[in-house]
This record gives sequence, structure tokens and C-alpha cells, in this order.
Amino acid sequence: MNWTISIGRWGTTLASATVLIGWVGGGAAFSAQLPSGLTIAPDEAGFIGTYNINGAVDPANMFFQRLGSNGRSCSTCHLAEAAMSFTPQHARRLYEESRGSDPLFAAVDGANCSTVAPRDRAGHSLLLKNGLIRIPMPVPVNAEFAIAVVHDPYGCALQVDLKTQLLTASVYRRPLPTANLAFLSAVMFDGRETIAPLTRADTATANLRVDLMHQAADATLNHAQASTAPTDVQLNSIVDFELANYTGQLWDREAGLLSASGAQGGPILLSEQLYYPGINDTLGADPNGIAFTPVSMTLYAPWEQSTVHRRDNDRAEARAEIAAGEKLFNSAPMTISNVRGLNDNAALNKPTTFAGTCATCHDTPNIGHHSLPLPLDIGTGHSSNANYESDPLIAAALNELSLPDLPVFLISGCQNPFAQGQAESFYTTDPGRALVTGHCADFNRVKGPILRGLAARAPYFHNGAAANLQELVNFYNRRFDMALSDDQKRALVAFLNAL
Ligand code: HEC
Ligand code: HEC
Repeated sequence: MNWTISIGRWGTTLASATVLIGWVGGGAAFSAQLPSGLTIAPDEAGFIGTYNINGAVDPANMFFQRLGSNGRSCSTCHLAEAAMSFTPQHARRLYEESRGSDPLFAAVDGANCSTVAPRDRAGHSLLLKNGLIRIPMPVPVNAEFAIAVVHDPYGCALQVDLKTQLLTASVYRRPLPTANLAFLSAVMFDGRETIAPLTRADTATANLRVDLMHQAADATLNHAQASTAPTDVQLNSIVDFELANYTGQLWDREAGLLSASGAQGGPILLSEQLYYPGINDTLGADPNGIAFTPVSMTLYAPWEQSTVHRRDNDRAEARAEIAAGEKLFNSAPMTISNVRGLNDNAALNKPTTFAGTCATCHDTPNIGHHSLPLPLDIGTGHSSNANYESDPLIAAALNELSLPDLPVFLISGCQNPFAQGQAESFYTTDPGRALVTGHCADFNRVKGPILRGLAARAPYFHNGAAANLQELVNFYNRRFDMALSDDQKRALVAFLNAL
């Protein structure tokens, strides 16, 4: 399948987005010419494309139906125009239009706490400002640690849930995209829906369906407050849609079509990207024995020395910048320290520091998550309060972000993973995988998401702490001591916007 799409230069501002698209040599109006199954929408950097490999999306699919009691569907929180997530801007618009009565704002998890009234705007601040959904996580009964609250801005950080009678912590997270799921190695930030492992090529496809059906049932029971789980027919309908759904930036305001002149951007080529569990694994576990290469992103390599088509000359500079950013992603050196999951990893001999690049953690070629489950604590869930953070690199990095005002938990009873035999207490805003396993070793650890469709779904990180990609790059620059120049930062942002 070889789609050739050309998008005219007319849509250079979002306001006048009268974009024309046509087959090369054609030039007919946009909507008439899109391949069936491709929908596009304007975003921060140009246009996001969402592509369903089965053709036109069926609005009767259960993904779009209200299967619970509060009027929500999966598409309440997972929208094509936001790369199958949603943005705070969308939430604010909806809040104004509906005066807080849209099902998105259901108090169960669409407000800071479950007791907030619909018209209480302040009580929805985390959703409206940061695009966050409350995730009530029961504290495992046999947890190795003790948990207490030291900062409780909304009054429901840690309480006994009236329904389940379980001690429950409120954490607040961004919706992960329900697209590109065929590539997943872990389901949810903390992997709690990976009930069947996604680590082997021969079982991954079947296991992924099991996981996603389980996830969809939980999402219907929890987010949509259904009294009974959906039927298998309904769950299969949802998962069929999800697995056929791909999203990626299609068109860049400055560089133009992201699959022009040999580049491999956009959702259609993404749907054909080679993937298997463990591909290009950083720790040498590629099942085909192929050695890890940090050159994990190659979408824009053809633009490095592109002899740009004459008509596209004004785009040459923008394309070169995207290609330069991709190169930085693969090669800009950084010093990785104090990351739970890496610097305390016995398989790596627990290195205090080691050299890496973005691709060390985002190793999957042209997709950008980790091709085997490897939840990590890069510091995003730490508190920026100087009394609560002892690592100066993490503190400086957090200062680059727009951290939401989240509850802070005090954790005690664990050993310091970086210093054998030392007990430690520490602070966190989201224990991550530790709330799933109860293990000290899993604190603050979350997966690195698939890095596609970024321009359509700011803010970033599990807690929406990076308001935009500039903040995100500034965070990494400090966190892992990268010493990037302003030009390099711009190039990296241009590349991330083109994913
Ligand atoms: C109220 C908002 C909301 C609704 C409604 C919702 N989700 Fe989500 N979804 C989220 C959030 C938030 C996360 C991330 C939570 C986490 O990782 O702890 C998420 C994560 C996911 C993921 C994990 C993707 C990945 O990369 O791991 C899938 C799959 C998913 N949702 C599918 C669904 C389906 C199917 C439905 C409908 C049955 C649904 N969601 C309804 C908010 C929502
Ligand atoms: C030590 C491992 C590691 C390194 C190195 C690393 N990342 Fe990440 N990345 C992660 C993890 C883990 C997350 C998820 C963190 C969170 O959600 O709080 C993440 C999240 C992201 C996200 C946000 C995705 C989203 O959907 O919110 C982007 C974008 C990103 N990384 C880009 C980069 C870039 C660019 C570099 C190099 C400058 C880089 N990463 C280096 C581990 C890493």
C-alpha cells in the first residue's frame, strides 16, 4: 500500500487552516481525497493524523457507546483530535459549554475528589489545568512499606474507600493514547493491566487482546461506573477498534508533509512499522540476537542531506532541523543517575552513573517506548518542595516543569536501593508500580509511553508536569546533565513535534 498525499501550503496558520490535499498531480478538495480510515485535525505543530487500518471508523463501535451509568464512553477521554488522549484546552471548552455537566467531569475521577459538585470549578482544577484524571489505587494489603500523607491539597489523598473498605491513594494521571496499541509492551503507566505478558513474539498478539479486554472491562466499570462488566462481544468490538487504530503527526506547519522526500512520518507508514517484543532492547535481550543500536529513530534520516524538491525549497531548513533533532535523540550524550529500574539494576551491576541517550530508554525503532516492560523512576513523580527532594539534579529538573499541585506521600520502611543496607524514608506524588506490587523496588516507576502523536496531546509525563515539549526538553537537559545549546533544544522539539 503506497499512499501519496500532498498537502498544499495554504494551511500555514491554524486559523486559516483551509488545507487542500490531493493525490500528487490531483489537487482536489481535502475531504474527498483522504484515504478511507484517515482522519486529521489541526494541532500545535500542524496536523495530527489518525488512521484505522480497517477503513472508515464505525461510529456504532462500542468504543463510542455509553456502556455505563454516567454517560461516558471511551471517547469521552480518548479523542482522535488529541492523538487519542485529550487536552486541558478541550476540557476547559467542554466545561464552559456544559457548565460542568458533561460526563467528563463525573466526580468519580473527573474531579480532584469524588465529593466535588459539578459546578465547583476549583474542585476540577487538575482536570481543567493539567488534563489529569484521578486514579484511586488501593494500597496493597501486604505492602513492604508504610504510606502517610504530608501534603493533601484536596482532602482525599489517602482514605478508606467506602465501597471497598480498602485504604486508597489518589494519584492523578494523563490518559494514555488508545492508538498504536499493537506495539505495547505494558498496559497503563504502572503496567497494572498487563495481566498476560507482552514479552514474547509467539504469545504477544493473543496476550495483548486478553490485556486490552480486561482493561476495557475495568475502564467501563470504573470510569463509566457500569454496574456490570460489558459482554465479550462488546469488549471485542472495543479492542478490534483499538488495535486497528494508529496515530502520528501527518503534516508539519513548516516542514510540510512528514512522509515527503523519503521521510517515514505519519500514521499510515506507522501502521506498517516492524515491531516485536524486545526489538532493539537496550539490555541486549533482542530475541533475534541483534545488538542494540542507539539509532532508534530513523524516520527523518532522508532529510539530513535532502536535495529538497525545488517546489519545497522553503521547507528545506525546517526539514533539516527535524532531521537534526532526530539525530540528537539518538546520539546526544547524557549521564543517567538515580533512576530506579536502571541505576539500582543488578543486571547492569548497579552503576552509580552511566552514559546514554534518549534511545537508551526509548529503544523501540520509530515508536519510542521500551520494547520490553521496563518501568522507570526518572524523577517526574518526585515533589519539587526543597524539603522533600535531596537529589539536586532532580530538583533542578523539576524546576523546569509546570508541576500541578499534587498530594505528597511519605513512604517509610524501605531500604535505599542505591545504598545497600540503609533504611530510607522519602516523598512521592505517585508511587507508580509500587501501588500495584507493594514492593519497595517499584517506587515511582512508570513506563515510558509510545512517543507518537505528541504535538496533539500536551501536557506530557504521567502527571502532565511538562506543559509543552520545550519544558520537557529543559527537564531532560537538567536531569541528565546534557548541556544542550538553544539550537539543539529547538531541533529536538521540532523532531518531537514531528512524531
Ligand atoms: C475518564 C477518562 C477515561 C475514560 C472514560 C477512559 N479512559 Fe482509558 N485511560 C484514561 C487514563 C487516565 C489512562 C491512564 C491511566 C494509568 O495509566 O494509570 C487511560 C489508559 C488507557 C489505556 C492504556 C494505554 C496504554 O498505553 O497503556 C487504554 C488501552 C485505555 N485507556 C482504553 C480505554 C477504553 C477501552 C475505555 C472505554 C471502555 C477508556 N479507556 C475510557 C482515562 C480514561
Ligand atoms: C532513563 C530513561 C529515560 C531517558 C534517558 C529518557 N526518557 Fe523520556 N521517558 C522515560 C520515562 C520513564 C517516561 C515516562 C515518565 C512519566 O510519565 O512520568 C518518559 C517520557 C517521555 C516523554 C513523554 C511522553 C508522554 O506521552 O507523556 C517524552 C516526549 C520523552 N520521554 C522524550 C524523551 C527525550 C527527548 C529524551 C532524551 C532527551 C528522553 N525522553 C530520555 C524514560 C527516559
